[in-house]
Amino acid sequence: MSDTEWPAKGARLVVAVDGPAGAGKGAVCRSAAQRFGLTYLETGALYRAVGLIGLRDGLTDETELGRVAGTMPFGFRALGDGRYGAFLGEEEVTLALRAEEVGQAASKVAAMPGVRAALLSFQRRYGGAHDAILDGRDVGSVVWPDADLKIFLTASLEERARRRAVELQERGEAVNLTELIARMAERDARDAGRAHAPMAAAPGAILVDTSTLTLEESCQAVWRLIAPLLEGHART
Ligand code: DC
Repeated sequence: MSDTEWPAKGARLVVAVDGPAGAGKGAVCRSAAQRFGLTYLETGALYRAVGLIGLRDGLTDETELGRVAGTMPFGFRALGDGRYGAFLGEEEVTLALRAEEVGQAASKVAAMPGVRAALLSFQRRYGGAHDAILDGRDVGSVVWPDADLKIFLTASLEERARRRAVELQERGEAVNLTELIARMAERDARDAGRAHAPMAAAPGAILVDTSTLTLEESCQAVWRLIAPLLEGHART
């Protein structure tokens, strides 16, 4: 799908939330989606799905991974309990996508222009079909430069690693905080340093630093930015 075939944004509302791993993007976006009736797309899940397939099939070649990105049977489906799961065909991969090694693999495939190009139209179509909130690394800078609101959600490396450690511990996984900080720093450097669509605050993005905020406070900070957009907005 070429650029010009992308659906126009038109009257639809698009909120773009970018930032590094562990800043709270997922939880904050889910809460905002629920509160304001927006559709949420976690764009990192697409890169994670390509990373997962790459790990499973032992793929490292950009052309092959680009083909995977363009053809994988990835989608979100309602699980019937109000939650949505990530699926590759009939296989639910929600938990598999969260694994640390899959995050690292995702960050590596995300540096490949062929992979990014293949995933772009999915993200653009998704936002184009609903009032939506999307999170990732380049949503405000590349995917939806015409978003109604751009937020760069961040936190200190130490705080992000601490949050990730709690999440892993809750899942019963062993945690070494020093190692986690090193791996997160490595992923930040790769995501921000790559040549194509690096992680960056888009022009006009509002910076929200959650280092000293609780999750509730982080959600409220973002809700306060979104609420004025919805006043008088005809819902789609
Ligand atoms: O948000 P996340 O941790 O699930 O993302 C996993 C990796 O995918 C991240 O390290 C970089 C990549 N990514 C990206 O390059 N662009 C996006 N819009 C979202 C994720």
